Amino acid sequence: MYIRGFEENAELTTLISVPERGRFGNAKYRGNYAGEVLIRLIRFLQANGIQRPYIYDPMVGGGTSRDVAEALGLSYIVDDIHNGFDVVNDDFHDTGFDLVMLHYPYWKMIDYAADLPPELQKQDMSRMEWREFIEAVSHVNYKAAAHGRFVAVLVGDIAVKGGIKSIQREMAWPGMPVRHIIKVQHNAESFRKTYNGKFIPIVTEHLLLFRTDYQPGGEMWVLVPAQYKKIDIDQYVTWKTAVKKVIRQLDEITPTTVCEGIRKLFPVKLRKTNTPEATVRRTLQELEADGYLRRHVRGIYVKAS
Ligand SMILES: C[S@@+](CC[C@H](N)C(=O)[O-])C[C@H]1O[C@@H](n2cnc3c(N)ncnc32)[C@H](O)[C@@H]1O
Repeated sequence: MYIRGFEENAELTTLISVPERGRFGNAKYRGNYAGEVLIRLIRFLQANGIQRPYIYDPMVGGGTSRDVAEALGLSYIVDDIHNGFDVVNDDFHDTGFDLVMLHYPYWKMIDYAADLPPELQKQDMSRMEWREFIEAVSHVNYKAAAHGRFVAVLVGDIAVKGGIKSIQREMAWPGMPVRHIIKVQHNAESFRKTYNGKFIPIVTEHLLLFRTDYQPGGEMWVLVPAQYKKIDIDQYVTWKTAVKKVIRQLDEITPTTVCEGIRKLFPVKLRKTNTPEATVRRTLQELEADGYLRRHVRGIYVKAS
């Protein structure tokens, strides 16, 4: 099977796989990325007229972005909490970057703070609580949009009990999403481990490229993700649908048997009514009017054939 973008030195497509991480950056730095990923982004910018992109990576870790920029002879600035720079609270070092590369910590999966002096440990994003972390990521995304023409965000999903925490799903998207690229994770633990089918291993992560193109005095629009909210299930399963589902399982359709079925299958519906039998009776009449039911004798219905 041929997948465009999968071969070595491939063009940038929405699927990226770089099995050999290459010579850029420290291969032992936990959660590092392959320099080839940044090279492909740079080539895309170059093909779009930015011949010598000015690169900024404020969370450079093992130095991948630095090494790529140096190898290509591009101007760049990099920093990290390990140099005492806090991307959330400190000022960015310059403005007018062509590409801001944001490779966020994999939250609590990797603790980057362990070797930091105590006063910096709490600034490390990998130690934040989830909500604080997402707010910090969104804040940094906005800052990046104010300082650069393109913003690339590389983030993974984090498996937690029963599901995932997805940074890209919850963070604010700065500017116009150019592409949402799926990147294969070659060296992550879940890529190598076997789980006997009980667990779905995460073998990909997200590389999002945004175009900000902010002009002084212009407007900047961002997509702020949905809020967590409790939904009213009753709004989504109507009485008619619930009653239809119940009567499919009944031999004798009466207001009492239907009410009993609703109590078992849709208990939420009963919380909002003090007169369930009356509501069921009315719904049965509506279904009769729709031609779905036929009245057999008073109080007993049969399904219309
Ligand atoms: C996923 S790693 C980046 C890896 C890097 N791209 C590489 O290839 O080696 C995330 C980095 O964010 C840094 N970091 C965490 N919190 C930070 C903060 N508040 N300010 C700046 N850097 C931070 C960590 O020290 C870590 O190096």
